[in-house]
Amino acid sequence: MNKMSNLDGKVAFIAGGAGYLGLPVCRKLAEHGACVVVADIDKAKTKHAVEDVAIIGSGNKVKGLLFDVGDEQSIRGAIAETVEEFGGLDILINATYSAVGKLVEEVSADEFDATLHVNITSAFVLAREAARVMREGGSVIMFASMYGLVSPDPRIYVPPMKPNPIEYGVAKAAIVHMVKYLAVHWAPRNIRVNAIAPGAFPNPKVQKDHPDFIGRLAEKVPLGRIGRQDELADIIAFLASDKASYMTGQTLVVDGGWTVW
Ligand SMILES: NC(=O)c1ccc[n+]([C@@H]2O[C@H](COP(=O)([O-])OP(=O)(O)OC[C@H]3O[C@@H](n4cnc5c(N)ncnc54)[C@H](O)[C@@H]3O)[C@@H](O)[C@H]2O)c1
Repeated sequence: MNKMSNLDGKVAFIAGGAGYLGLPVCRKLAEHGACVVVADIDKAKTKHAVEDVAIIGSGNKVKGLLFDVGDEQSIRGAIAETVEEFGGLDILINATYSAVGKLVEEVSADEFDATLHVNITSAFVLAREAARVMREGGSVIMFASMYGLVSPDPRIYVPPMKPNPIEYGVAKAAIVHMVKYLAVHWAPRNIRVNAIAPGAFPNPKVQKDHPDFIGRLAEKVPLGRIGRQDELADIIAFLASDKASYMTGQTLVVDGGWTVW
């Protein structure tokens, strides 16, 4: 195996690790030798993900852990359980997702706050708690989105597609800043903090149910297609590894060129 990013002996906690984009990341980190904690709120998906990742890893440990990223106590418990089992933590990836697809005029203040809470406050609390237990340096990687950099084009999201909501992009824009702030703050501890901003990676159900929508997305992309599920994992493994030892505070955009024209 070509181990571009050697992660032997590293412990990686992947929040939302059972999700569409989180699972290939778990697989890739296991492939590169890391012990992987698949941390998610969904019991059935987590069980399936752990079985899947265990097949890929070369004897390194894989652990499933149920937690709610929106709950501070739950975050503390999950990090404590990780340290108890593995002795520490080296890599944190946050690939959780939460948003309600409504138009600006229909989004209530409570819904707006709830999305900001899970996507911003919880991302911060999770990173803070993980950094407390990181050993000799570490790598924190947060999922932003191209919609934290540019607005969605509403002409793409016509019914039956739900709008891509304002509070989602606002939250992802905050992630772009959060990684800069934390990168500076934790640089003396050699904890690097970066984000990845995916473009359009709709899951298989959306692909199957809404081919017209997929066509409209693809038309916006210079490379002419939506992203494939596995097209982020190598980049994240790189950011997690010592190959990226001089990179911090950055947001890597992986969008087929969506944001460049
Ligand atoms: N798929 C895309 O097109 C796309 C584009 C840009 C950015 N992103 C970002 O990528 C990340 C992953 O997205 P995805 O498409 O894999 O979504 P997904 O819904 O498939 O995966 C998210 C995972 O997070 C878990 N989760 C949700 N709420 C949780 C909670 N409170 N506590 C713990 N786990 C929770 C879910 O169970 C799920 O397994 C998200 O941050 C998303 O905003 C996705």
